[in-house]
Amino acid sequence: MTLDILFSDRDERWAEWQKPLRKALDDAGLKAQLHRSYETPEAVDYVVYSPASPLQDFTPYTRLKAVLSMWAGVETIEGNQTLKVPLARMVDPGLTTGMVEYVMGHILRYHLGMDQHINSDGAWRPETSPPLAMSRNVGFLGLGALGLASAKAAQSFGFNVEGWSRSQKSVDGMMTHHGPDGLEALLGRTDILVLLLPLTDETHDLLDRTRLSQLRKGAFIINPGRGPLIVDEDLIASLDDGQIAHATLDVFRQEPLPKAHPFWSHPNVTVTPHIAAETRAETAAQVIVENIKRSEAGKPLLNVVDRNAGY
Ligand code: NDP
Ligand code: OXD
Repeated sequence: MTLDILFSDRDERWAEWQKPLRKALDDAGLKAQLHRSYETPEAVDYVVYSPASPLQDFTPYTRLKAVLSMWAGVETIEGNQTLKVPLARMVDPGLTTGMVEYVMGHILRYHLGMDQHINSDGAWRPETSPPLAMSRNVGFLGLGALGLASAKAAQSFGFNVEGWSRSQKSVDGMMTHHGPDGLEALLGRTDILVLLLPLTDETHDLLDRTRLSQLRKGAFIINPGRGPLIVDEDLIASLDDGQIAHATLDVFRQEPLPKAHPFWSHPNVTVTPHIAAETRAETAAQVIVENIKRSEAGKPLLNVVDRNAGY
């Protein structure tokens, strides 16, 4: 039997993914045709999906067995009521490595006070000598595929790392928290906060003025998770009054970030254009094909989205 797989993303992505997907399918011994056209929905077995996909209504996809997301974040599709088959999110070694690098780069930038030394104004500031990592507390909101890998990397540098997740967790050598009290406890000890939470009903607007005020005074924030995890106006107010020293933001309520948005011109905000980590076609195609193989063998898919939890 030949499988029909619809690749539902922009043309540039198709150019990048076509060969790795073909190769991964061939290597797995799966007979499959890759499609770009939406004209025969009733013939499609699998959809390879990104948020750029025009697909809104899955009702005509009567043979569909699963939707395989190329993205880790699935907030644009998980609530789709017409989708009745399993949805798998992306957990890709390339994506994880990229995120660890981004997060560590910005943690070290804050820890070492690099901004004070780059573009030097000729002032000699011996007081800017940083403490060792072991006396700096880094808090991670989200201990999933990306949060946990980044937290472990920070730990390996010697930072004092704590994490917060929805379920109770035990991680070697790391203080972990859950629930609202756990969040308050973590924030109260955090110098550098990293947000790697999915966007769900529970995490939307999570960091408001009250939560931001629970952080240590002069804390730094790194948000490669999703824009609406933080209330923009509350972050700006907390930056203006010095409660937050600086924020590095990779994700926004509206992307691209509108030119007039105050984040662009705020002296204590670094904007990066949603580039913290990217799904890498070479490794991710194998992840997708592994799930197709599992589905064809009647096995449960890996990284299935819990549609009740929203991630
Ligand atoms: P995972 O699903 O593996 O992990 C999510 C983590 O968040 C889990 O630890 C989960 O808890 C925790 N969590 C979820 N809801 C809550 C809640 N209500 N309270 C406390 N903790 C919660 O996701 P990933 O690590 O793979 O990805 C995280 C996010 O990173 C993505 O959803 C996406 O938004 C973003 N991302 C951004 C990229 C970028 O380039 N900027 C690239 C890729 C992803 P538990 O462990 O208990 O389930
Ligand atoms: C993702 C992202 O969710 O790139 O994969 O933001």
